[in-house]
Amino acid sequence: MISNLSITDFQTVVKERHSVRYYDPSVTISREEMREILTEATLAPSSSNLQPWRFLVIDEQELKEKLHPIAHNQAQVLQASAVIAVLGDMKWYEKGEAIYTQAHEAGIMPEEIKQQFITTANTMYRNLDDAKKKSILDIDGGLVSMQLMLIAKSRGYDTVPMGGFNREQFKQEFNIPDHYESIMLIAIGKAAKPAFPSVRLPLQEVAFWNKINN
Ligand SMILES: Cc1cc2nc3c(=O)[nH]c(=O)nc-3n(C[C@H](O)[C@H](O)[C@H](O)COP(=O)(O)O)c2cc1C
Repeated sequence: MISNLSITDFQTVVKERHSVRYYDPSVTISREEMREILTEATLAPSSSNLQPWRFLVIDEQELKEKLHPIAHNQAQVLQASAVIAVLGDMKWYEKGEAIYTQAHEAGIMPEEIKQQFITTANTMYRNLDDAKKKSILDIDGGLVSMQLMLIAKSRGYDTVPMGGFNREQFKQEFNIPDHYESIMLIAIGKAAKPAFPSVRLPLQEVAFWNKINN
């Protein structure tokens, strides 16, 4: 049961998260804390719980400098404590057997259901065309990215998601396996300057009840 206090805290986190583009370069995030952040992020939902996300955490200054021009010289790449590349594995369904076996051994998935899920991973997901596979990676990768940014904020860190980078060059320079897709980069650290304010469309332009008004 979640208490009202936790809900209030969560609302604060949601409202206070903004894309920060200037970071204090003296701040480091320990590998231990980064592991906790990533572990909590991966509690995000995914299609058939197949968890297609993979992460490359770039926390060495030399590598941030290598990434800087690939990410269109965005200052946050150099200043942030780390840049997390959120990747999607185009062969993610191959982990289906291990995931569902783990669920079965944990006593939360009967043998018959486990076999059905393994079959779905090995047939339905495997046989999708590349565009549909990429779409699943983008959706699940987007969910884990959002969760990561909110978790970071709840721990006192700031983030900015980045789509502005040369994906081909990134894959080449960082030896990303061919079957991994680059979904986004997320810079994480402590703000040195506040975020630029941003606005949102009025709700009536984006939300409808029962019928879309054109
Ligand atoms: C997929 C995606 C890609 C983005 N790429 C960049 C980027 O390359 N550089 C940048 O400074 N901000 C980038 N942003 C941040 C957006 O500009 C920002 O989220 C938006 O202006 C709303 O501001 P807020 O995040 O502070 O609420 C990106 C956001 C998303 C979701």
